[in-house]
Amino acid sequence: MKSNQKTSKWIPKKPWRQKTGPVARGREQAEPGPQKTLERVLSKAGVGSRTQARSWIHARQVQVNGQVVENPDHWVDLDRDRVLLDGKPLTKRKQLYILLYKPTGYITTFKDPEGRPTVYDLIPDIDQFISPVGRLDLDTSGLLIMTNDTQFAERLTNPDRKISKTYLLKCSTLLSDDAINQLRHGVELSDGPTRPAEVTRVRDSGKYTHLEIVITEGRNRQVRRMIEAVDSKVLKLVRIRIGNVTFGDLKIGHWRELQPDELADLATSTPTRIRTSAPAPDSAIRQTNKSRRRPDAPK
Ligand code: URA
Repeated sequence: MKSNQKTSKWIPKKPWRQKTGPVARGREQAEPGPQKTLERVLSKAGVGSRTQARSWIHARQVQVNGQVVENPDHWVDLDRDRVLLDGKPLTKRKQLYILLYKPTGYITTFKDPEGRPTVYDLIPDIDQFISPVGRLDLDTSGLLIMTNDTQFAERLTNPDRKISKTYLLKCSTLLSDDAINQLRHGVELSDGPTRPAEVTRVRDSGKYTHLEIVITEGRNRQVRRMIEAVDSKVLKLVRIRIGNVTFGDLKIGHWRELQPDELADLATSTPTRIRTSAPAPDSAIRQTNKSRRRPDAPK
């Protein structure tokens, strides 16, 4: 069924954002579809970022119903309004979901004022605008999902869904069992306590502890701040898994499309249950993991 054939009554999600312009007045005559700001409509159509959308609007490159609109917050109902960018109608883009193996040294934004490389430099062959789902720091490597499906991205980053993210890391000191237990049960950060985490001592080598950590949140620099909360520092950090999605054959700096089963798994997975007890005596883990180290694990 086409969305403009909907019969359900339209209820604004945010009544304080009710419009008073010509589109709102048109409501009395026709059953409207959902409204979004012009800036959002452009970015959701997969043609560019919200910042780019704003600049096109300000540069008078965007028309709604034959009129140039210069206000990015102009309300639009794509079921009724005809939006043109550079004279071309917005068309619905194919939804694209990729998994990028980000190396360190790339930032997870579209443009960097300092001119550093960005993750977009690693996907020059993709002709649609896709956005990272969450972030990895400049100095973090590993798996990053990028997509133009904003609903999927919102689902994936919704903290209530507790999608697990697994990291391997090298700490700047040897961590005591007590420190590891604190990480497991949650540590206090400036933006509140962390949720329980699954923490495995992978091995101790010289003066360093290597850990595997599974968390179900995606706060800014979370793993680094957790390690700082137990008086150490992260020297190396690699994200090795998102939910059940792993590298497969993916090489560093390369990307692949997510497979239908991976997408279905991410979209439907139930919240991850975290085990806060040690998986096995830590001394046993130290020994068994020596022989099963990932080639890309922090050395
Ligand atoms: N936690 C961090 O501290 N950094 C990342 O890049 C990802 C998780």
